[in-house]
Amino acid sequence: LRAVLLGPPGAGKGTQAVRLVEKYEIPHISTGDIFRKNIKEGTELGKKAQEYMNAGALVPDELVVDLVKDRLQQDDCKNGFLLDGFPRTIFQAEKLDEFLSESNLKMDIVINLKVEKEALIKRLTGRRVCKDCGASYHIVNIPPKKEGVCDICGGELIQRKDDNIETVENRINVYEEQTAPLIGYYKEAGSLVDFDGEASLDEVFDAIVQAIGEQE
Ligand code: AP5
Ligand code: ZN
Repeated sequence: LRAVLLGPPGAGKGTQAVRLVEKYEIPHISTGDIFRKNIKEGTELGKKAQEYMNAGALVPDELVVDLVKDRLQQDDCKNGFLLDGFPRTIFQAEKLDEFLSESNLKMDIVINLKVEKEALIKRLTGRRVCKDCGASYHIVNIPPKKEGVCDICGGELIQRKDDNIETVENRINVYEEQTAPLIGYYKEAGSLVDFDGEASLDEVFDAIVQAIGEQE
């Protein structure tokens, strides 16, 4: 399965990705996670990406495209992959298409998660992530069993640096301006399927799995 998860910040891309990659046994490629790992490790890439991310802006295309291309050429992507948070601009989508057609591959499905702004803000400001394993929670919607502690590994739950209200608003605006045009782009290509991202976790997951089945 080759798939893209598209949707505004907080739509549930990361949450659904974790379940989808487990079911379809494919790698989860999240450009946001790759950047956060680089920031944590203090790499050159991390240093470059940091200020854009903290401001809620996009990291420049030239820092993103080659990184993803390299990742897609690794052995574990041979039988498919799930892209989460990439592409995010028309330029990135065109580069991805070029890469796929050069490799004689095609995208099976672009999963578009739709969530209204009000819900996005509630979700992002209430999100907590595990410092150690990255698992994602929500203080109201998906609370951990014990406050502030990861169910999976016992790690401390923290708030992402870009989940404060000012940065969240900026990320949503950036999405509207630079990423939302991809909906039309993929609609035209015929690979886009819309999902109500405001449904429950399980409902969204089941709907995606069903659509993937129909696509095959
Ligand atoms: P990235 O890490 O990709 O963040 P994002 O797109 O802003 O998305 P999020 O991770 O915030 O949200 P999500 O949709 O995964 O939602 P989640 O599942 O956690 O990017 C971060 C930054 O990196 C960007 O701003 C940019 O600077 C840079 N970057 C990354 N890729 C780039 C690229 N390609 N080009 C340029 N720059 C790039 O869910 C959110 C919350 O809601 C959670 O608390 C969750 O528990 C809850 N929730 C999820 N689903 C449900 C549900 N069904 N019901 C109730 N609650 C739910
Ligand atoms: Zn954890």
